[in-house]
Amino acid sequence: MDLAALNDIANKMVEKGKGILAADESSGTIKKRFDQINVESTENNRRDYREMLFRSEGMQHVSGVILFDETIRQNAADGTPLVKLIQDAGAVPGIKVDAGAKELAGAPGEKVTEGLDGLRERLAEYHAIGARFAKWRAVIDIAEDIPSQYCLNANAHALARYAALCQEAGIVPIVEPEVLMDGGHDIDRCAEVTEAALDALYAELFVQRVQLEGTVLKPNMVVSGKKNAVQAGVEEVAEKTIKVLKRCVPSAVPGIAFLSGGQSDEEATAHLNAMNAIGNLPWNLTFSYGRALQAPALKAWNGQAENVTKAQAVFTHRAKMNGLATRGDWKSEMERGLAV
Ligand code: 13P
Repeated sequence: MDLAALNDIANKMVEKGKGILAADESSGTIKKRFDQINVESTENNRRDYREMLFRSEGMQHVSGVILFDETIRQNAADGTPLVKLIQDAGAVPGIKVDAGAKELAGAPGEKVTEGLDGLRERLAEYHAIGARFAKWRAVIDIAEDIPSQYCLNANAHALARYAALCQEAGIVPIVEPEVLMDGGHDIDRCAEVTEAALDALYAELFVQRVQLEGTVLKPNMVVSGKKNAVQAGVEEVAEKTIKVLKRCVPSAVPGIAFLSGGQSDEEATAHLNAMNAIGNLPWNLTFSYGRALQAPALKAWNGQAENVTKAQAVFTHRAKMNGLATRGDWKSEMERGLAV
């Protein structure tokens, strides 16, 4: 394993001023997004939408793009591989390699992520196409009696097996143990579960000999459950997230790229900004947003070729705001200049 090369890639992914665009929606998820704007989810529409993003000015603020299997093989309308568009924009192409979260046997309501069989061969192929990092997402739900330690351990074990195979293939693993924000729990319960999930993860990464300098963590932020009547403010989210991360994430990890998980686009930016404003952290903190980066652009595009320029401007604005948040330089007044 060439750890120095992996560390270079990881550092590039979490470079200050930039972040990761999660554009790896599976066929089912992109259909749901397109349904919201009444656009049919055809191969060409999916290509046109993603090509629009990859050709936008906003790519200046993007360090890497996570792709789905279909997209990493697609060409732009003029025949240029989409992977080349991403590389030409100065970003690193990445690939989602998990096969989704499935019911965990013997644990009602809990899930484990699948996709390890044949992964070594798939990683070799993706590397040949140009992927230099990968993503694997574990899903951890909070309810009265869950998650169980069994669920946390099973997911951590799979994440570590995936991460070790990635490093063997010269690919930086993004390890993503996502604690969902859908429940009625309070922010302290989210903190407790996030800490337990991260503890289980780093224990397994150690056992399975994953070299942390060649990894990137993609965690949830510590937030109130969506259905809780009390919603913690920006400062509380920032402080509690940093507290948990400091307890669990070794400083050998080059960077942490948060998922947005259902937060509004501006909330996700405000939270990232507040954490970076705290400063003095052992790792770079950036974004790896899907919905919080794309939602306004998707709406502005609406499936119409004549809206491409407008939608690109909207995407660029969001990417720029999040880029500023990686330095703690974002202010809410900056949002007013560009309404959709
Ligand atoms: P969201 O930012 O929409 O949560 O998506 C990020 C992602 O890649 C989840 O795996």
